[in-house]
Amino acid sequence: MNNFEFYNPVKMIFGKDQLFKLADEIPNNAKILMTYGGGSIKKNGIYNQVKKALQKFEVLEFGGIEANPHFETLVKAVDLAKHEKINFILAVGGGSVIDGTKFIAAAISFEGADSWDILSKNIKVTKAIPFGCVLTLPATGSEMNSGGVITKVASQEKMVFGSPVLFPKFSFNDPQVITSLPKRQLQNGVVDAFTHVMEQYLTYNSGALLQDRMAEGVLQTLVEIGAKVIENPSDYKRASNFMWCCTMALNGLLSKGVPTDWATHMIGHELTALYGLDHAQSLAVIGPNLYTVMKVDKHDKLVQYGKRVWNLTGSDALIAEKAIEKTSDFFKSLGVKTKLSEYTKDYNETASFITKRFKARGWLGLGEHQHITLEKVKEIVEMSY
Ligand code: NZQ
Ligand code: ZN
Repeated sequence: MNNFEFYNPVKMIFGKDQLFKLADEIPNNAKILMTYGGGSIKKNGIYNQVKKALQKFEVLEFGGIEANPHFETLVKAVDLAKHEKINFILAVGGGSVIDGTKFIAAAISFEGADSWDILSKNIKVTKAIPFGCVLTLPATGSEMNSGGVITKVASQEKMVFGSPVLFPKFSFNDPQVITSLPKRQLQNGVVDAFTHVMEQYLTYNSGALLQDRMAEGVLQTLVEIGAKVIENPSDYKRASNFMWCCTMALNGLLSKGVPTDWATHMIGHELTALYGLDHAQSLAVIGPNLYTVMKVDKHDKLVQYGKRVWNLTGSDALIAEKAIEKTSDFFKSLGVKTKLSEYTKDYNETASFITKRFKARGWLGLGEHQHITLEKVKEIVEMSY
């Protein structure tokens, strides 16, 4: 196992009907900006619950944060927060609202001229306004990590940022929130969490025995409950396990001491930026093809994954191949499409566009060994058409 440091200061408040504790988690002198998305929280009652819990505070609101949050929208929240001298932010939403809030928290304290530099120039974020979360959509793990992904509409770019100062102070995680989710978002949640684990597991063997078993545990649980959660989100036992899987998949624990890949995400982000695919849809399109193109590098882990997660038997070569097929079939069985052409007819130039963009950014080799060269990216994307 590789050397590592592990720091995660997020207080998780998990379970049914815990929002009555919300006020206790926020400093008494807080002037709060409550951030949210397009309005789902007003329909499912979460907005009212939060407002009730925050009665004793001065609360301003900033709604309208889009899925794949837009830089152009978030800078408006930054202006508002600066003008109103906000000193605490409460994100009420899914990954997009939480990521958007992380950006707002960082950009308020940013001293440069253009806060997009935090993403495009990878500027280190050293200060941020404190914030907490009320999670409404299990998928991204953003509620317990310190990263985010923001889209700039003007240039059709979707980029990542992160900093140890961007962990939420707390996260309320009530599995009952999934009952109001559209089916598509439940499907997305399973695929996103599954792929997060794969990015940290399907690399090469580093002798991290417990890390492997924990990763396989999350994968197996998602296989066990994924389709059923989508079918019946009111089943609390499954909903709670699903929610915890999503958090555990990307709260930093699984990546400790092991190599990681993340190329499925990096290529997937381009599909979202170009064609508007949901984040998880992009992963289902790219992931299995990336495993196929990289099957020599990933051989040992593919065999382990096939045996332990899918109970496959036979020769190692056959297991590795079948394991990829099982993954793709799993996504399809959840109702998630795995071909780019199922989302857009306009895909012919996608591979060359993405490789040109990666080249311009200096991303010449992705993945655990940086073996995913631009030629391989092209092959993966073309295979995904
Ligand atoms: O905007 P509203 O009206 O709230 O509707 C949202 C949105 O349309 C709706 N929704 C959320 N909770 C709901 C609900 N509808 C009914 N009932 C509820 N309880 O769901 C839609 C999608 O929400 P969104 O937040 O966009 O989804 P998700 O949580 O999947 O977040 C996706 C974003 O997170 C990023 C993605 O790239 C994407 O931008 N990611 C963030 C990561 C991180 N911070 O660590 C890692 C991930 O890999 C991912 O990249
Ligand atoms: Zn993801």
